Amino acid sequence: MSEKNTPAADPTYSIYILGKKYEVPAGLTIMKSIEYSGYQITRGCGCRGGVCGACSTVYRIKDDPKLNVGLACQVNAEDEMYIVQVPYMPIYRAKYDVNTTECTDESVLRLYPTLKRCMGCNTCTNSCPLDLKVLDYVSALLQGDFDTAKHLSMECVMCGMCANRCPAGLAPMNMAMMVRRLVGKKAHKNTAQFAERLKNIRDGKWTAEIQQYKALDRAGLQPIYKQFQSSNRVDV
Ligand code: FES
Repeated sequence: MSEKNTPAADPTYSIYILGKKYEVPAGLTIMKSIEYSGYQITRGCGCRGGVCGACSTVYRIKDDPKLNVGLACQVNAEDEMYIVQVPYMPIYRAKYDVNTTECTDESVLRLYPTLKRCMGCNTCTNSCPLDLKVLDYVSALLQGDFDTAKHLSMECVMCGMCANRCPAGLAPMNMAMMVRRLVGKKAHKNTAQFAERLKNIRDGKWTAEIQQYKALDRAGLQPIYKQFQSSNRVDV
């Protein structure tokens, strides 16, 4: 075979997991690269679709001092990447009754008094794997501008990186979640869509389907889970 016809070798990347080097095919996500390296991910993995926030990961590329943050199921591995998946950390979450709590400055500060400690350092924004403007929505909360806070935080996947790295101990994603619930409750309380959805739930529209899933054992659930992974659609 002439040199011209020799197929090029598939490119591989060197990655480091817990400090140990592995060779993986180029083009895989961090999550798939970890699995290709022989690890079974039993924690820190949920939807595999960038929605659940379970797979937050910090990484560095060799010789680059920047510490990067990303979702392992969404970010592709790179050559000379040093990977650390972030374990679960308990994060403060206030208890409140969404039906009786008003969305006011007073209730937000009462339930999340740490909000006043924000130093404006921007670590939260720099830690967000989705590049949300976390400090901007924290500032909006401080100013009582709940609509802005709601819009700026709407795509949050609750991975918790902002809270894990905040030097003042704030839990931005939980504060924003509460405000979205309270604002949403007020805005959507009397809409036709809300009334219809409530009626569907009360009439048990999805009860049979839920019971069907609950009755399945692991062997029954696995093919459904795989089908869901490949098509984002579930048929039982
Ligand atoms: S596994 Fe759900 S966001 Fe990555």
